[in-house]
Amino acid sequence: MPDYRLTHGVTDRRGNTLLAAGTRLTRRVMESLSSGQTTAIKTCRLLEYRQIRSDLLGFFAAAPYDLIFQETRRQEELLTIAGDVDLPEPVLESLYHFRELDFYTYRHTLLVFALSILIARELIDDRAALLQEVMAGPTHDIGKLCVPHEILAKGKPLNQAEHAHIRHHALAGYVLLSYYFQDPGILAAEVARDHHERRDGSGYPLGISIDNLMIDIVMVSDVYDALISPRPYRPVSYDNRTALEEITRQADAGTISETVARVLVALNRQTQPHFSRCVVSTECRGVPPSKNVYGLIETND
Ligand SMILES: [Fe+2]
Ligand SMILES: [Fe+2]
Repeated sequence: MPDYRLTHGVTDRRGNTLLAAGTRLTRRVMESLSSGQTTAIKTCRLLEYRQIRSDLLGFFAAAPYDLIFQETRRQEELLTIAGDVDLPEPVLESLYHFRELDFYTYRHTLLVFALSILIARELIDDRAALLQEVMAGPTHDIGKLCVPHEILAKGKPLNQAEHAHIRHHALAGYVLLSYYFQDPGILAAEVARDHHERRDGSGYPLGISIDNLMIDIVMVSDVYDALISPRPYRPVSYDNRTALEEITRQADAGTISETVARVLVALNRQTQPHFSRCVVSTECRGVPPSKNVYGLIETND
């Protein structure tokens, strides 16, 4: 197992410390964490949990997602697949917690989940395998529970310490999901840990290339939603065309999966071509929004 070490502690939603800062996530540590709960954790259907289904339908209806999700048959198929997704109750409570605390993360979580289903169903034929994979979609950012809200909501460049705290959400998510699913090998935990890695090794937490289809799918869905949604550090979002150009540019540069990027572009076409027949232009005509402080680090502290 690669050498993962926590930069900050991991606490559950009630504030109980699961692992302290500095802990190395060895196989033994992860197995003991996952077997630490004596009773089985109840699960519940994601779409039947409180207002999640109606919130999701509201997000589908609003621009720019209405272009992708409004086609009735596509939306019905998506809801049928999503309707089979069960999650441990504490995980659902945690997701719902964002609804009050950080609505951006709540909306982002559900839209990345929905996008990842649409992309996965183009690439995975077997229904049982598809369900196993998409179960890992809605929890990729759950580790943000362990990042102070003032950092998540900060509209100015972050300092080095705040950046490190944000990055902590990847390993924090891995720990939380291993604990709640009582299984350190579950795909959802791996996706949470690795969705900020990049194919050319430029990501985090380890800066390694990971060969895993669902991680590739969540990675692309995550970047796309981040571009087309307003963020604290960039109040004006990318328009859809410019966002897709940026996704194509990143795929060409080898940081994200070219196949997954192509599926996303095909989903955005009115004519709904199969992704293998979708011609993707590398021409960039869109203009990214100004006032973007993403990735900027304060140097005066
Ligand atoms: Fe993330
Ligand atoms: Fe994310």
